[in-house]
Amino acid sequence: MVSEKWVGAVFLLQLCWAGCGFCGKVLVWPCDMSHWLNLKTILEEITARGHEVTVLKFPSFIIDQSKQFPLHFENISVSYEREIAEDHLNKMVNLAVNVIPNQSLWKAARTLQDFFLQLTGIFEGLCRSVLYNQTFMNKLRDAKYDVVVIDPVIPCGELVAEVLQVPFVNTLRFSMGYIMEKHCGQLPTPPSYVPDVMSELADHMTFTERVKNMMLSLFFDFWLQQYDLAFWDQFYSETLGRPTTFCKTVGKAEIWLIRTYWDIEYPRPYLPNFEFVGGLHCKPAKPLPKEIEEFVQSSGEHGVVVFSLGSVVKNLTEEKANLIASALAQIPQKVLWRYSGKKPATLGSNTRLFNWIPQNDLLGHPKTKAFITHGGTNGIYEAIYHGVPMVGVPMFADQPYNIAHMEAKGAAVKVSVSTMTSADLLSAVRAVVNEPSYKENAMRLSRIHHDQPVKPLARAVFWIEFVMRHKGAKHLRVAAHDLSWVQYHSLDVIGFLLACFVILTFIITKCCLFVCQKCCMKQRKKRDTRKKKN
Ligand SMILES: *[C@@H]1O[C@H](CO)[C@@H](O)[C@H](O)[C@H]1NC(C)=O
Ligand SMILES: *[C@@H]1O[C@H](CO)[C@@H](O)[C@H](O)[C@H]1NC(C)=O
Ligand SMILES: *[C@@H]1O[C@H](CO)[C@@H](O)[C@H](O)[C@H]1NC(C)=O
Ligand SMILES: *[C@@H]1O[C@H](CO)[C@@H](O)[C@H](O)[C@H]1NC(C)=O
Repeated sequence: MVSEKWVGAVFLLQLCWAGCGFCGKVLVWPCDMSHWLNLKTILEEITARGHEVTVLKFPSFIIDQSKQFPLHFENISVSYEREIAEDHLNKMVNLAVNVIPNQSLWKAARTLQDFFLQLTGIFEGLCRSVLYNQTFMNKLRDAKYDVVVIDPVIPCGELVAEVLQVPFVNTLRFSMGYIMEKHCGQLPTPPSYVPDVMSELADHMTFTERVKNMMLSLFFDFWLQQYDLAFWDQFYSETLGRPTTFCKTVGKAEIWLIRTYWDIEYPRPYLPNFEFVGGLHCKPAKPLPKEIEEFVQSSGEHGVVVFSLGSVVKNLTEEKANLIASALAQIPQKVLWRYSGKKPATLGSNTRLFNWIPQNDLLGHPKTKAFITHGGTNGIYEAIYHGVPMVGVPMFADQPYNIAHMEAKGAAVKVSVSTMTSADLLSAVRAVVNEPSYKENAMRLSRIHHDQPVKPLARAVFWIEFVMRHKGAKHLRVAAHDLSWVQYHSLDVIGFLLACFVILTFIITKCCLFVCQKCCMKQRKKRDTRKKKN
């Protein structure tokens, strides 16, 4: 017995040492909501491997330090309260669900622009309370971090890293119009076959679709440049005390961890410092809580449908909730609906409302036939992981894009949240549950996702540790970062070669003309002398 215990203890110690081959200090600049859920998986793994993780925390919804989880938190003392952030989140949902679908494209762009300008104001306050608080910055400097892990959706993380002179890793799903990946990270994004993230297009595009894609790409380039980036360029230059841009600073990232993979994404060119780690949070299903398991088992051979619009949409309008409930009441499956709004009057006896559901465990349950989802990346990946076909009700951000991709790959049916009727939703759910092709395609994506040489979480952790061990990953950095726009597109070289060609053509033409003229003149002289003789 005693010896067994010793062996156990020695083994544990060895495990610790193996994990702690190099123990570093990680600083985290997070983003809230689903972004945090994803990042947390990486941080848990990094902590388990013996590194020390400190999260910079602002007033937030789900970044929760009370949970049993060995992370350190540094509170940022900002002037705004959680309620303001909540207010903006609700505004965004309202814009996406009720306002924007009813507007023309240009009006919608204006609405979004106004909204983003308000956000910029909030983010500026956050940035100032970190970067312009010397006590706070000195505290961070004294801690001597080895790497900063940043979600660049909230600006200034990379600016903090730059001021502290610590290498950083970006973790990102996407940025508006791929601005950050394309312009700051130099990721090649040819508009001829890489559809814009807001476009819902596929990779094989007709001429008109390519025109649309190009227009969107230019629109985002121009629009963001004008309204948002100009502000941040100035803020970054002011803070660093030298002229710089937002993009240059973000582009200093050693590694970009992108939260998709070739199961969602169409094949596209990428760079050695871009890792596609989609689905890193996915885990095998655990047993369900007893009450939920009983409900699931009561569905018999028909199985269950899981329904969640994510953590952002808490309550819909009463009209919409009734419409959804009456559609769900007509299917033979039992439905688990994550919803904390008022109970809809048309709720069927087969549908049960939950404030929270163990989504991953439910999707991994053999009785689950379909997943009705808003199309957030985390949920989509859990469905792919477990091979569950989907009904997509996308609203904003990358949701329409994700659902469009799942639809193109035959694993989902899309329903529009703003225009759907009860019948639309019902026929979509019936199709996904009853037509075997949806299940088959979901299983195919699942097999692609599972069959990887190194799992996404292991790759993400490897690259963060790599940056700590080597103080960066400069060997993966393409020289495109040091080229101007003209040089990148080789316009100077093309111009030079064109000029050479034009000059050469000119000289040759001139020479030919000269020779011809000489010849002609000789002949004319001969003719003239012949004429005179005659
Ligand atoms: C940060 O703020 C929370 C309350 O929002 C508090 O419970 C926690 O103790 C604070 N942490 C530190 C390190 O000050
Ligand atoms: C769209 O706007 C028009 C005019 O403002 C209004 O009458 C209509 O009800 C709106 N539609 C929706 C779906 O909100
Ligand atoms: C600056 O940061 C320190 C340490 O976190 C904090 O105690 C202090 O209140 C901050 N100062 C201001 C003006 O916010
Ligand atoms: C959601 O519920 C809250 C409180 O019950 C309410 O104030 C708010 O207007 C509701 N939102 C929608 C879109 O129905």
